[in-house]
Amino acid sequence: MTKNIKAVYQGSFNDLDSIKISPLSRAFLFSDSIYEVIPFQNNSFICSEEHFERLIYSASQLRIPINIKEIRDEIDHLFKNSNCSNGYIYYQVSRGVDKIRSHIYNSDIQCETFGYLMPLEFVSKPLKVAVCEDIRWGRCDIKTTSLLGNVLQMNTAADQNCDEIIMHHNNIITEGGASNIFFVHENTICTPKLSNKILPGITRAILIDAIKDQRLPFQESDFNINILKDASCIWFTSSTKGVAPVEEVINLDKKLDLENDLMKQCQILYNQRVTN
Ligand SMILES: Cc1ncc(COP(=O)(O)O)c(C=O)c1O
Repeated sequence: MTKNIKAVYQGSFNDLDSIKISPLSRAFLFSDSIYEVIPFQNNSFICSEEHFERLIYSASQLRIPINIKEIRDEIDHLFKNSNCSNGYIYYQVSRGVDKIRSHIYNSDIQCETFGYLMPLEFVSKPLKVAVCEDIRWGRCDIKTTSLLGNVLQMNTAADQNCDEIIMHHNNIITEGGASNIFFVHENTICTPKLSNKILPGITRAILIDAIKDQRLPFQESDFNINILKDASCIWFTSSTKGVAPVEEVINLDKKLDLENDLMKQCQILYNQRVTN
C-alpha cells in the first residue's frame, strides 16, 4: 500500500516506506501536531494559499514555530517530481522530538515536518451516513492530528456500513467526521456557522463564495439536528470529496432528493471554481 509513495521527512525526500520516526516525537506521544491535505487536479493545486493560511493559523494556536517557506518548497518539490495529475499532498508539522515524555514541552525543540503525495481520482459518490453526538474537544477550528473523537464515531458508523457521520453538540449540528455539512431546508441552502466547534473548511469557503456570487438563498447559523427531518437534501464538502451528496441517513427515516436543484447548482458551481 505504501510502496512508491513519495514523501519528505525533516527536509529529506524518500519513499514513505523508508521513513523512521522517533518514539519521542510529540506527534506520536501526544498528537501534538497539525496538518493539511492540499488537493491538486489537472496538474494544479486547488486553493493552496488558503491551505497555507490555515496551517499558519493552526500553528499559531498551538504555538508551534513553523517555516512556511521551507514547507511550501517541500510541497512544490513533491508535486513537481511526481508525474501525477490528480491527488493530494498530506503535510504534518509536530512540535518536535522531545528529550523525554512530558506534557510540558521543552521550549527549544525544533518542529518536526512530514509530508507525502498520494494519487487520487476525484469521484464523488452518494454517501450513507449516521447521526451521532459530537464527542470532540473544544477547539475543532484547529486542524490538529488529535482526531480520536472523529475516529471513534466514524468507525461506529462504518460498522453500520456508513461512509460518514453528521455530528451534533447539545443537539446543534456541527459537521461531518472529515467534512463540513450543507443541506437544503425550505428552499434555502443552510450550513452551520463557523465557531470553535467546526473546522473552517476550504471547500466550504469556496462553495459559500460561489453561492453568494450567484445570490442563491443561503443561511449560515446554528441549526437544531431535528431540522434534518425536514431537509430536502444534504451534502458534505471536503478537499478530497468535493461536493458529495448524501443518499441516506440511517437514523432518520426519510428519503433524500439526489436531484435537488440547489444541490445540483452547488455541485456545478464548485466544479467550475476548481477547474478554472
Ligand atoms: C473535521 C473536518 N471538517 C471539515 C473538513 C473539510 O475541510 P476542507 O474542505 O478544508 O478539506 C475536514 C477535512 O479533512 C475535516 O477533517
